[in-house]
Amino acid sequence: PAAPAYPETDREAVHRVIRERRDIRNGFRSDPVPHEVLLRVLEAAHTAPSVGHSQPWDFLVIKNEATRRRVHELAEAQRDAYAQSLPKGRAKQFKELKIEAILDTPVNIVVTADPTRGGRHTLGRHSQPQMAPYSSALAVENLWLAARAEGLGVGWVSFFDERELVQALDLPEHLEVVAYLCVGYVDEFPGEPELVQHGWSKRRPLAWVVHEESYGRRALPGEDPHDLLSETLERIRPLDAKALGEAWERQKRMTKPAGSLGMLEIISAQLCGLSRQCPPAVPEPAAVAIFAGDHGVHAQGVTPWPQEVTGQMVANFLGGGAVCNAFAAQVGAEVCVVDAGVAGELPATPGLVPRKVRPGTADFTQGPAMSREEALRAIEVGIDTARDLVTAGNKALLTGEMGIANTTSSAAIISVFTEMDPAEVTGRGTGINDETHARKVDVVRHALELHRPDPSDPIGVLAAIGGLEHAALVGYILGGASMRTPVILDGVSAGAAALIARAIAPEALAACIAGHRSSEPGHAAALTKLGLRPLIDLDLRLGEGTGALLALPVVQSAARAMREVATFDAAGVTEKN
Ligand SMILES: Cc1cc2nc3c(=O)[nH]c(=O)nc-3n(C[C@H](O)[C@H](O)[C@H](O)COP(=O)(O)O)c2cc1C
Repeated sequence: PAAPAYPETDREAVHRVIRERRDIRNGFRSDPVPHEVLLRVLEAAHTAPSVGHSQPWDFLVIKNEATRRRVHELAEAQRDAYAQSLPKGRAKQFKELKIEAILDTPVNIVVTADPTRGGRHTLGRHSQPQMAPYSSALAVENLWLAARAEGLGVGWVSFFDERELVQALDLPEHLEVVAYLCVGYVDEFPGEPELVQHGWSKRRPLAWVVHEESYGRRALPGEDPHDLLSETLERIRPLDAKALGEAWERQKRMTKPAGSLGMLEIISAQLCGLSRQCPPAVPEPAAVAIFAGDHGVHAQGVTPWPQEVTGQMVANFLGGGAVCNAFAAQVGAEVCVVDAGVAGELPATPGLVPRKVRPGTADFTQGPAMSREEALRAIEVGIDTARDLVTAGNKALLTGEMGIANTTSSAAIISVFTEMDPAEVTGRGTGINDETHARKVDVVRHALELHRPDPSDPIGVLAAIGGLEHAALVGYILGGASMRTPVILDGVSAGAAALIARAIAPEALAACIAGHRSSEPGHAAALTKLGLRPLIDLDLRLGEGTGALLALPVVQSAARAMREVATFDAAGVTEKN
C-alpha cells in the first residue's frame, strides 16, 4: 500500500500555514524573540532540500543596531533609485508603500549561498550553477513558514546591490546573499499580500498557469483542456446594469447642471458599469502596450519608409526618445513594448517583451498574411500582455502599435467590416504622394478580391489580410475586457482591431473607449461602425499609442469628478426648479 497521508487536521494545518504566511513590513513589535523560538525557525530552514545535498546556506543573525543602520542606509538609497525609475502614476503609489522593516524588527537574518560548498562534483549543480542559490531560497521558505507558525512575521528585503551588502556585512567574498529577512512579532498577519491591499498588484488565478501536456493547453486537474482565447471569451460580460443605474443617479445629484460634463458623464458611467462600482476608481496607474510587427505587403511599395524603421523605432521607444515616451511621461503612464512580429532580430533590452510569432507577415497580395494558427498565437500574445499589465496593478490599458505599412492592412480590415470601398478607407498613413496612395488603394482592392475575407470569420480576416500587431491588439482588447479593465483605443490600427474584437465577442466593446480620431479616413469609418465617439480630435496620425495617451487624463478626470464632486444634498446647494 502507498505510504499514508497525514490525517485531515494535520493536512489542514500545513495548508493553513502556507495560506497565512505573509510578507510583513508594517506593525512589527519590539518584543525580543526567545532563543528557543529562533532555534526552531533556523532548524526548519536548515532542513530544506538542496542540490546534491550540498546545504549551501549560512544564516547570519543580526541584532546589533549599528549594523542594521548601515544596511538600512543601503536599502534607502536603492529605494530612492527605484522610485526615480518609475512612471509618475506608479511612483505616486510607491510613495505609500513600506518596503522594509530593518530598524523596526529585533532580529535580521541574512541567508547566503556558498556556490563552492559540496566540492567540485556536487550532484546536479554541474549543469545548473543557479541550483545553489535556489536551494538557499528553499531554506528561506522553510524559515518563513516555521516563523508564521510561531506567530513571527518575516519581511524579505531585496533593495540592495548584492556586492555592496556583502561588503557592508563583512561577509566572505565567495558567498552570495540570497535573502535579507526582518523578523519579529507582529500586531497581525493581513489576509492578503500588502501589495494587493495597496492595489499595487493582483493575484493571478491558478488556472492561468497550469498547462496540460503542452504549453498553452490549459486545464486544471479534472477539467477539459481549452486555449487562452476561449478562456478569455468566457469571462467577457456586459456592463453591470446596477452600477450603471447608480452612475446615472449620481450624475443627477452632482453639484453641476445635469449633462454638463457631456461625454465625460458617459465615460464615468461606463467605468462604473465596467468595474461594477459607483463611483469608479480613478484608472491609475495606466500602461500603453506598443505591439510591433512588420508587413509583407511592404514589398508592394505602399509606403516610402523602409521596413527597418519598425525595428529602429522599437529601439527608440525603449531608449525613451519617441513621442509616445514624451506623452507617457507627461501623463504618468508605463510604456510596454512587445515584439509581436518585427522582421529583424531585436537585441534583448530591458522593457522589450520578446513575443515574435513570426518575422513579419507574408505579402497578402500573393497569399494569406499568416496562418490561422499564427493569428491565434498573436492574439494570445495580446491577451497575455493585458493579463500581465493588469495583474501588475495597471487600472487602464492603452493600445499602441508600430509597423511600417500597417495602415494598408488596417484599411483592408476596415473595408471588410464597414463594407466601404477601399478608396474611401485607405489613407496616406505616414504621408504618401498621390501616386503611392493610388497604388495603396489598388493593393487593398486586389487583396480583398484575392481573399474575399468573410467578416463572420474574424480570425480568418486576420490571417488573410491582418498584421501581427493587429492580432495582438485584438487579444489585448479581449484580455482587457475579460478583466473588466478599460481599454483606451489609439488610432486606425486599434480601430481595425476593435472591429475584429467585436466580431469575436460583441461585449468586448463595453471596455473600449475611443481615445482619439486620427486623420486616417478609415479610422473615422471604423469608429462610426463601432459606435464609439472619440475623446480627442487633433489630426494626429502617428500611432504608437499617442492619441490614447493624450486621452488618458480625460478618462481619469471623468472618474475623479464622479468620486470627488459633492452632491446637492451633501453640499447644501439648491437644485434648479
Ligand atoms: C525574492 C523576494 C524578494 C522580495 N523582496 C521584497 C522587498 O524588497 N521589499 C518588500 O517589501 N517585499 C519583498 N518581498 C515580498 C513580496 O512583496 C511578497 O512576497 C509578495 O507581495 C506576496 O505577498 P505575501 O508574501 O504576503 O504573500 C520579496 C519576496 C520575495 C519572494
